[in-house]
Amino acid sequence: MRFNTLTCLIAPTFLTTLSVNALTSFQYLQVTKSFADAFMPSSTSDLVADLNSKSALFAEDVKGSVDIVGNIDGREYSTDFLFGLFLGAAQSPTVPSPVGVPISYNVTAAAVEHNTVSAGIKFELQYPILNATYPIELEAFLTINDKREITQYDLIFRRWAWATDTIIPQLTPYMAKLLGMSNDNSTQTLHQFMAYATCTQTMTYCTDGNAQYDTLTECLANATSLPTGEFYRVGENNLACRAVHSSMLQLNPETYCPAMSLSGGSFCIDRDYTETVRGDHFTQGFLAPKYVTPENKKLVQDVWASSETSELSGLLELSMSGQDAHSWDATWYATMTFVYFVFYYFFAKVTDFMFARFNNAYKDLPRELQKNVTMYFMTIIFTAVALALQLVGSPGFKGEWHLWEFKCVRLAGVLTVALYLFELIFRFNMRLPLVAHHILTIFAISLGVTTNEYTQNPTFMLSGIIWLFQATTEQPTFIGLMGYRLKWKKETVALILKISSIQTFIFKAASALALLVYWGLHQNFNYNSIDRVWSIFVWIIAIGLFLTQIWGSYVTYIIGVNILKKRPGPPIRLESNDSSSSNTSTDIDLEKGQITSSVEEEARRTGGTVTPVEVPTLGYDGKLEIGRSFTMSKTMSSSASTVVDQ
Ligand SMILES: *[C@@H]1O[C@H](CO)[C@@H](O)[C@H](O)[C@H]1NC(C)=O
Ligand SMILES: *[C@@H]1O[C@H](CO)[C@@H](O)[C@H](O)[C@H]1NC(C)=O
Ligand SMILES: *[C@@H]1O[C@H](CO)[C@@H](O)[C@H](O)[C@H]1NC(C)=O
Ligand SMILES: *[C@@H]1O[C@H](CO)[C@@H](O)[C@H](O)[C@H]1NC(C)=O
Repeated sequence: MRFNTLTCLIAPTFLTTLSVNALTSFQYLQVTKSFADAFMPSSTSDLVADLNSKSALFAEDVKGSVDIVGNIDGREYSTDFLFGLFLGAAQSPTVPSPVGVPISYNVTAAAVEHNTVSAGIKFELQYPILNATYPIELEAFLTINDKREITQYDLIFRRWAWATDTIIPQLTPYMAKLLGMSNDNSTQTLHQFMAYATCTQTMTYCTDGNAQYDTLTECLANATSLPTGEFYRVGENNLACRAVHSSMLQLNPETYCPAMSLSGGSFCIDRDYTETVRGDHFTQGFLAPKYVTPENKKLVQDVWASSETSELSGLLELSMSGQDAHSWDATWYATMTFVYFVFYYFFAKVTDFMFARFNNAYKDLPRELQKNVTMYFMTIIFTAVALALQLVGSPGFKGEWHLWEFKCVRLAGVLTVALYLFELIFRFNMRLPLVAHHILTIFAISLGVTTNEYTQNPTFMLSGIIWLFQATTEQPTFIGLMGYRLKWKKETVALILKISSIQTFIFKAASALALLVYWGLHQNFNYNSIDRVWSIFVWIIAIGLFLTQIWGSYVTYIIGVNILKKRPGPPIRLESNDSSSSNTSTDIDLEKGQITSSVEEEARRTGGTVTPVEVPTLGYDGKLEIGRSFTMSKTMSSSASTVVDQ
């Protein structure tokens, strides 16, 4: 498994690591989940140490903003505020704190565009003293850097005012009880409670150099002289601000104690509404397609969608275009395609060189047949690799989906497509049916990838796995053919071909049937044209395969038998006899004209040329041709078709 992971990841990584190391959209979403997870109850008893460990979520120079407070900058303050806000309630569950303890969440909305995430997270806050939970929704805009750190955040506590209006009146009786006063005037109770809560924390943590008051009484006198304030304005010079910040005192007394003074330090200060709203606090902003990198900063920094420009900036369109690029775009290509071709080119060169050096039979072959043998060898190797890769995706049949497995299956398809394209270019001559076979296979794989892209239904990967068996289980046939060309023992070659004829029949029939069954169970859709295209092709291919497999395997088998009897016999007459005697269907009749035509005619018709060397061997190949022509006129793939093309 590990090894396969590597195989599938190496290829894409090969080029991407050279240029880009931005995270994937999924990784940005993972960071968003880590952010939400940080609000969950700690698993350790040392809440303060646990809280400090959460600072790794933020970049050192993070710029933040929270609607109920104001701007919050830097890693320390961000961590202290966002998580410290809930620290007091977690530490003292018996105190009727207006802020509850988050115990669960659902991310109910999320959109990722480049490094910008917009998410809606619904938290459930627990109020132990009320034996109840209340939901609170946090709307978050985040930008995230390549180190998975949050570089900007803009948080909105949605309907927070309503939440506090709902929750606080239920808490005031407990506040009054704690203070030993009557709850006749709940405004009064809340005011007293917050002064008390603030001052007990202040007197505990703000000592020595950080001390703000000499005595609790002094503190209470100062605190009660302040207005209560609103819980949705906890960044202003009021008691609410001090109450909220008081649970952060233990984290960093030096920083937060001044906020407990009558002046409010630098946190609990008078703020201007207009200034606060107009202030542009962020470097990049959250205009999602605007992806600011050090390289493009000068160009895009000041791009906005605003009333001052009638059209959206072309830079925004460029920036969004990446998400709209698909493999079927005429203006788009995969750079890796060329890497595959260059790889196959060198592999073929080395194979040819090694055979020529170490195999005498190969040396004696004409150049064209040498190329064919090289191609057999490469097909054996790379279809085996593709077979291993496609099997990696099989957990999908159990409903287990993983992107890297998906990539392996796609790589199996890409390797096969590139191999077939390479063969089309590499070989001197290929008969029309084999050319058609290759092009149709390329079409089938491309169709699978495209259908998957359009529908976003991962079951098309599983169809791809089933379908790929057609191309990736032919190794025995090619071993037989290679053996034939390299003059292995006749008996061995005959045996291999006979066995492979049975094997390919079983595998391909099973594959065709499974493709159809799977389609019926999971892909019988009729929503878009792509659904209909897929359905039509699945049926054409599956039925075609069923009809022709028997014939294709029969032909392979007969070759195996005839090698022992007739090699290198003059076969053309014999063949036509065979076919006419054992078959009566109209298809065969159609093919008969072809079979009985002369070798030269056939070659001319199919666009090939007949070399002097090829003519004597055509006896053998000609026999196969029956199966090949028949098969290929009907289907996209069959063992006979590939066998035939010598
Ligand atoms: C999350 O969603 C589940 C299923 O809808 C629900 O039962 C649960 O209460 C939700 N939790 C929160 C915190 O919203
Ligand atoms: C808390 O509420 C649940 C039901 O919501 C109830 O079963 C439980 O007894 C309550 N606990 C206390 C301490 O009141
Ligand atoms: C409650 O107390 C506040 C002062 O703390 C006062 O302004 C208000 O009038 C009181 N409300 C009632 C109903 O007595
Ligand atoms: C507030 O605290 C200061 C000491 O820091 C004290 O001198 C002053 O009297 C207090 N104010 C009130 C209104 O009690």
